Amino acid sequence: MTNNPLHLKRIHHVEFWVGNAKQASYYYRKAFGFSLTAYSGLETGNRSAASYVLGQNKTTFVMTTPLSSDSHINDFIVQHGDGVRDIAFEVADADLAYEAAIERGAESAMEPHDLTDEHGTVRRAAIKTYGDTIHSLISKGEYDGPFLPGYEAREPAGGGAGLLRIDHIVGNVELGKMNEWAEWYSKVLGFKRYISFDDKDISTEYSALMSIVMSDDSFSIKFPINEPAEGRKKSQIEEYLDFNNGPGAQHVAFLTDDIIATVKRLVASGVDFLMVPESYYEELPSRVGEIDEAVDAIAELGVLVDRDDEGYLLQLFTKPVEDRPTLFYEIIQRKGSRGFGKGNFKALFEALELEQDRRGNL
Ligand code: FE2
Repeated sequence: MTNNPLHLKRIHHVEFWVGNAKQASYYYRKAFGFSLTAYSGLETGNRSAASYVLGQNKTTFVMTTPLSSDSHINDFIVQHGDGVRDIAFEVADADLAYEAAIERGAESAMEPHDLTDEHGTVRRAAIKTYGDTIHSLISKGEYDGPFLPGYEAREPAGGGAGLLRIDHIVGNVELGKMNEWAEWYSKVLGFKRYISFDDKDISTEYSALMSIVMSDDSFSIKFPINEPAEGRKKSQIEEYLDFNNGPGAQHVAFLTDDIIATVKRLVASGVDFLMVPESYYEELPSRVGEIDEAVDAIAELGVLVDRDDEGYLLQLFTKPVEDRPTLFYEIIQRKGSRGFGKGNFKALFEALELEQDRRGNL
């Protein structure tokens, strides 16, 4: 039996609050292959904020910037820099989802209300999650506009860089808070504990972290929650928490079905990836056995491979996409494996620490 108390359908979009949405949207279009599908701003009658809707296959991002100094969006940007504000869900009924969430212990971020334009009416509410992040609950009914009320259509979404959909979104929370937030996702959204990692799985000398992956029943929405673990020096999660000034979304993983083509395209357009030492590929055949891809090709791009009982996965992580070492992206291709690349943690964290050291944060 499925347990979906809020009747979540999917991640509708991820909204970022940023200092300059025009430039951020340009970066995501040029570097990651998104298309500008809709827009709201001064030209469409929106006097308070400008929002650029970016689409690629099943992923929708929104870059929003405030247009005046008295906007509450400024406070978020001062605290956190550009970052994820809203992981918005489409639900069957926003009012019922909101009521159920509040009854199950969620804190309100926005009461249910109507949004209307010539394409119809949408109901929207929101609840708070970790840090200053929220989950909007949106029911669209018969609404047939390009995005949400108040937005004008721009170009159609294309195939872009082959990023098919969001595989998972990771939240970083404070030391000692991981279980609390995992419990929150279980209690409020009905998610289950999918997998967990402790500091024995994922520690190098410095960069220890612990992680619990929470998932809905269909495994289509997966939210790992990380907290720092005690290490000899500063954990990568602590570095994030320092520069983000508290908890927030750490990375978004995009699913692809051809990681070599996708990563080639992203590298050509200027996306910076984390590189592991070449020795990683010497040990690879003995660690993961036969794979469909040529080891040369994946070594050249720095793609990582991990195998478990169900199959294997290929993955690669970008460097932070902003000046604060906070938000980054993962590209992942799954060939049977539903894991998160546990076998890559050590090599990956050593590469990460090299970067952390360059920033003077180790
Ligand atoms: Fe990930």
